[in-house]
Amino acid sequence: MNTIYFHIKKESGKPDQEEETAFRQAGEIIRSGGLVAFPTETVYGLGGDALNPESSRKIYAAKGRPSDNPLIVHICRFEDIRVIVSRLPEAAVKIAHAFWPGPLTMILPKSGLVPPETTGGLDTVAVRFPSHPAARKLIAYSGGYIAAPSANLSGRPSPTSAKYVAEDMDGRIDVIIDGGEVGIGLESTILDLTSDVPRILRPGYITREMLDEVLGKVDIDVTIIDPQSRQAPKAPGMKYRHYAPKGKLVIVEGTPEQVIRYINTHAETDRLSGEKTGVIATAEVLEQYHADVVKCIGSREDEEAIARNLFSILREFDDDNVTSIYSESFPAHGLGQAIMNRLLKAAGHRIVRL
Ligand code: TXA
Ligand code: MG
Repeated sequence: MNTIYFHIKKESGKPDQEEETAFRQAGEIIRSGGLVAFPTETVYGLGGDALNPESSRKIYAAKGRPSDNPLIVHICRFEDIRVIVSRLPEAAVKIAHAFWPGPLTMILPKSGLVPPETTGGLDTVAVRFPSHPAARKLIAYSGGYIAAPSANLSGRPSPTSAKYVAEDMDGRIDVIIDGGEVGIGLESTILDLTSDVPRILRPGYITREMLDEVLGKVDIDVTIIDPQSRQAPKAPGMKYRHYAPKGKLVIVEGTPEQVIRYINTHAETDRLSGEKTGVIATAEVLEQYHADVVKCIGSREDEEAIARNLFSILREFDDDNVTSIYSESFPAHGLGQAIMNRLLKAAGHRIVRL
């Protein structure tokens, strides 16, 4: 398949005739069962018609993803949610009011219109109303319901720019809409509203503290807090090995001095035994590491930059053929909970506590 590329400006200001035509064309491709990758405020998505079982099958095939792992349905107007859910609890309305459009996904009981192919056979559906203008425009032109997982091959880090989408998807899908780099860089927070107490199934930019403030109290899936938990995570996708770079990644936690000493010693040993070594470092201590490739993830003071840079750094280590990677650790509250959740998965939960 020959993938078509559409380039759009990051901030859609004045209506642009050429862009409008591109969106219309991409929307028609989705309506007729094709696949289009597009930017959202979190990561790039791989979109197909959510109400067409054949489109969902194609999404799984393009990603190489197990078909029991359900897709998120993206909408571009709050009212449209009523078509795809069978019940809309008060809590969902409150959450939508507070955080939509934005980086939050709700799990709700699905209506008969959503095919089981889209929800991995579950009787619930994940719904998200993204804030990115390009995403909203594409959804509108596509008929209102786009099923979209992150636009990476299954197991690879989610793509934060179109160049990473192309790396994984060129030749496998019809269109890639290039809207530059995304703003957040980690996937949406997933909130399950089908249980008595709402529960976070995947941490993201909308934090537990922010949700607590609107709903009183929310739970968090135990498997997120305690990776040793034997329970299966409630979001099927959270059980898979994810975000993994090709090299072996180890997280090191301790005081800055301890971490620097540990990483430098181990990177040196690894280098002597023939490994290509890498370090994920914060700006404050960047200069103090010795390894083949030292990458700056941002300032320790700027969690948003750390979130935004994480997935692209993991991919760059692959491009550089780094085989042994060490990363600093981050405090796991607020946005840090999402950062550590993704980092721990990428590391296969290898963490050294000094
Ligand atoms: O930010 C995002 O959410 C991005 C962009 C493209 O919108 N999408 C995304 O999709 O991250 P994906 O497929 O990579 O992750 C969806 C997660 C998976 O872990 C999946 O198991 C879970 O959502 N999920 C989807 N439907 C569910 C359901 N009905 N019940 C529980 N978990 C569900
Ligand atoms: Mg994904």
